[in-house]
Order: sequence, then structure tokens, then C-alpha cells
Amino acid sequence: MVLSTIQTPEETEEHVISSVFASRYAHEPLPRYKMPRKTIPKDVAYQIIHDELMLDGNPRLNLASFVTTWMEPECDKLMHESMSKNYVDMDEYPVSTELQNRCVNMIGRLFHAPSVKGDHGVAVGVATVGSSEAIMLAGLAFKKKWQNKRKGQGKPFDRPNIVTGANVQVCWEKFARYFDVELKEVKLTEGCYVMDPVKAVELVDENTICVAAILGSTLNGEFEDVKLLNDLLARKNKKTGWNTPIHVDAASGGFVAPFVYPDLKWDFRLPLVKSINVSGHKYGLVYAGVGWIIWRSKADLPDELVFHINYLGTDQPTFTLNFSKGASQIVAQYYQFLRLGFEGYKHVIENCIENARTLRKGLEKMGRFDIVSKEQGIPLVAFAFKDENKSLAFDLSKALRHHGWIVPAYTMPADIEYITILRVVVREDFGRQMVDKLLSHIKQALAELTDTVSKLTFTVEVKQSEDDQDAESGSMHIPETSLHWKKDKHKVVHKEVKVTGGKTKGVC
Ligand SMILES: Cc1ncc(COP(=O)(O)O)c(C=O)c1O
Repeated sequence: MVLSTIQTPEETEEHVISSVFASRYAHEPLPRYKMPRKTIPKDVAYQIIHDELMLDGNPRLNLASFVTTWMEPECDKLMHESMSKNYVDMDEYPVSTELQNRCVNMIGRLFHAPSVKGDHGVAVGVATVGSSEAIMLAGLAFKKKWQNKRKGQGKPFDRPNIVTGANVQVCWEKFARYFDVELKEVKLTEGCYVMDPVKAVELVDENTICVAAILGSTLNGEFEDVKLLNDLLARKNKKTGWNTPIHVDAASGGFVAPFVYPDLKWDFRLPLVKSINVSGHKYGLVYAGVGWIIWRSKADLPDELVFHINYLGTDQPTFTLNFSKGASQIVAQYYQFLRLGFEGYKHVIENCIENARTLRKGLEKMGRFDIVSKEQGIPLVAFAFKDENKSLAFDLSKALRHHGWIVPAYTMPADIEYITILRVVVREDFGRQMVDKLLSHIKQALAELTDTVSKLTFTVEVKQSEDDQDAESGSMHIPETSLHWKKDKHKVVHKEVKVTGGKTKGVC
């Protein structure tokens, strides 16, 4: 409890010792949509907002999100120290800019960018607010390059398209809509929840600005086969002369695969991969607000997209959608690279994979679920009820909420939207103890759900016995037909899931 001296407007001279909870402000309704007319003491303002925020979910128990929810206190301190720096003022904060460049080069090397080899060369890339901004920038670069080429050939350049799987995250749909690019999606089928490279290449035409592959599908964490895509596309390019490139959306997988699957070829080792995005705030282990986009070479980033400004000091090249932003996230990313190194990241990811494995085994043992995530992929467990009753996944998600866990249930994209899955993302701060606790809560919730469903479907018809018309004895007759409920499949009890088109809602 915060004890403070509070001076109310009416008590101008007199100081009253009080707790903030006993202050008159705590008794008044909160101003919500209109700025209050009067000033209030800072500790009271703090307490009011702090208290209301307690009603948010607990980020550590939010298993819906890939986004980092824990960092070391030393890093928290550094972030706090750099919060007041506007990163865009490169001339005033040259060290922050330098830290970004160091990160870009480290990531470029991690992804085998040919522009950086050993100790030489410079990687081409930039820090963004997250993978969404990075994807907008990558998409714009592809669009511009394609348009320039088409103009040079005297061909129409007004109908660009991108080929992706229907499992792409909503940011791809946003890119397509905001920047007038058609999204050609490869449909998913039951049992195959990622883009089929054969079908993707079939969709490629002369207006395709790139094929986007995902390293770590948002829906089930699975890696798409970028190597096969590269080989098939190379063959098509040779036949048609189109030269269609690949972008890899490695939002989650970019900081997983290099550490634990070093031989998996998905990055710039494949010649058609021209750009890669990765979220620093996912397995890059930084709090929300940082992503990265890396291009294969300078030639893959058209000059006309880079702006040069000089009103903050010297000439500064910028290629981002927004202008001002805090330097903290970039500082934090550099802290993690410096502090953990390759060895540390490998260790963290291996732990997550091990915990995901334990969770997966525990769920399999319960016998109620089909696991729809893969062994090789993002450390997450996606699972569906074997039972066709769609509402069960939502009911389980709701039941877990009572224990504080946030485990999302969602329907798959168009064509397989009848499949509902639950997903647990295993992050660094989701330790073994918590895995065991979650499993026991799932078990408990299942027992309760089964109980509820039975109660709802069990009906007993009670009739007076034929040979006991006077009903004096109080005996009951239960017709045999009313006991057949056990043989029936459970009916959908409630919850209509509306699928309104577009991407799955509520998962990030
Ligand atoms: C595959 C994929 N791409 C892009 C995004 C968007 O990333 P961000 O939240 O960093 O903008 C996500 C988010 O979960 C994702 O899973």
C-alpha cells in the first residue's frame, strides 16, 4: 500500500496523511472518455491505473502469444535508461544507431546473407516495430522491383500478386489490401496445414512479385519446405524466364532454426530467397516492439524506397513506415545477443523444445487429442479434440481461463474451418513446473467438461408404473428408451463459431 501526503484542492494549506486508497479520488468515478478538468496527485494517478491494469490477463500465463514476457532485470534497466531516446535521431544518438547496425549484421550472418562473409561485408537491413512492418517493407521492395522490370519491358504493371499459403498471418492480408497486391493463397487441406510448394509454384504467373514461405506457421508452428519451393521455382523460372523470388516470413522460426536445426536450408543459402523477416520480440527474446528485415543484397532493395533526410543533423537514410520510435527495444536486442551469444540462444531454444515435448506427451497420454504441430518446428503444441464436437475446444479454453491460463482455441482458415485447435506457445519463461501444472489443470478441466456434457445430455423420462395406478407405493418406471443416451454421440451444446473470412482471429 502506498502511503503518501495528499493535498486535495480544498485543502490548499493543510496536508493530510492518508493512504491513496482513502483519498477522495478513489471514491469518484474514473474519467474514461473525457479528459478530467483537474490535476490529481501523481501517486493517486499511478495507483488508479495500476489497479485497473491488474484486471488484464497475466502475461506469463498467456500461452497464446509468441511475444516475450520476461527479460533479465539488467536488461529491464537498460531499456528504462534508453526509453527517452527517439531512435530516429540518429545524429543525436549515434550509439543506438550503431547498436541497430550491429544487430542487423549479426542477424545477416545468422541467415547466411552473402553480403556478409566472416568478418567482412555489410548486411542490408533495418529494425522495425515487428514482423508486420518488416513484411510491409519487404513486400514494397518486391512490388517496386517487379514494376520497374515490367515498365522496362513495356508490359502492364498494374496487377501484381503474391503467392502464399492460406495459413499466412493477417499482416500479409494487410499488405495485400493496403498496397493493392492480390493475395493468391494455396488452400490448406485436412492434415496439411502449411503451403504445398508444388501448388504454390503452379499459382505463380508473370505478375507474381514473390512467393512468401513461412518458417514457423502461426497456426501450428510448422516449417514450410523452403528448399523444395526454391528448387521448383528455379525450374519454373528457367522455363519461363520470369525470375520470381522468395521471401521467408521467419517471424518465429528465424531465431529458432539457426540454433537447433543448423543444417536445415531455408535462408539466404537458397539463391531465390531475397529477403527474410524475423520478430525480435518472439524468439529473439525481447519485449514487444521490435522486428527485423534483412535483404540478400543492396540490389534487392530499390533505391527509390530509401529516403534521405538531413534535418536531424547529417544525411540519414531511412526505410521504415513510421518515423519516431523508442530506442529501448533495439538496445534490448543487442543486450540479448551480447549476453546470450549463440550458445545461450541454443540453450534457451533447446529448453523450450524439451518442455514442448513434455507437454505434447502429456496431452497424448490423455487420449483425447490429436496433435497437429510437428516435432520439427516452433516449440509449441497445437492440438485438436478427437471428438468432433467443435465447442469442446472453446469450452476447454474457457475452463483453463478459470485457472488463469490463456490458451486460445481457434478455427482453421477457409476450406478447413470445421477444424478447431488449441495452441500453447512454449516460451523461455514457461518452465517445466508450469508445464506440469498446465497438464494437471487440463486433466481437471476435461473431467469437469465431460461431467457437464453428460449432465446436459442425460434425460430421464419418469412415468408412473402401469400396474401401480394409485401411486401410493411411490415406485417409478424408467422406460428403457430413455437410457439410450450413452450410445448417442454428444450433441453440440452451444457456441456457434462464426467464420467471417480472412485470417484466424485472436492469434499472433
Ligand atoms: C508467421 C508470422 N508472420 C508475421 C507475424 C506478425 O508478427 P509481429 O507480431 O511481429 O508483427 C506473426 C505473428 O505472430 C507470425 O506468426
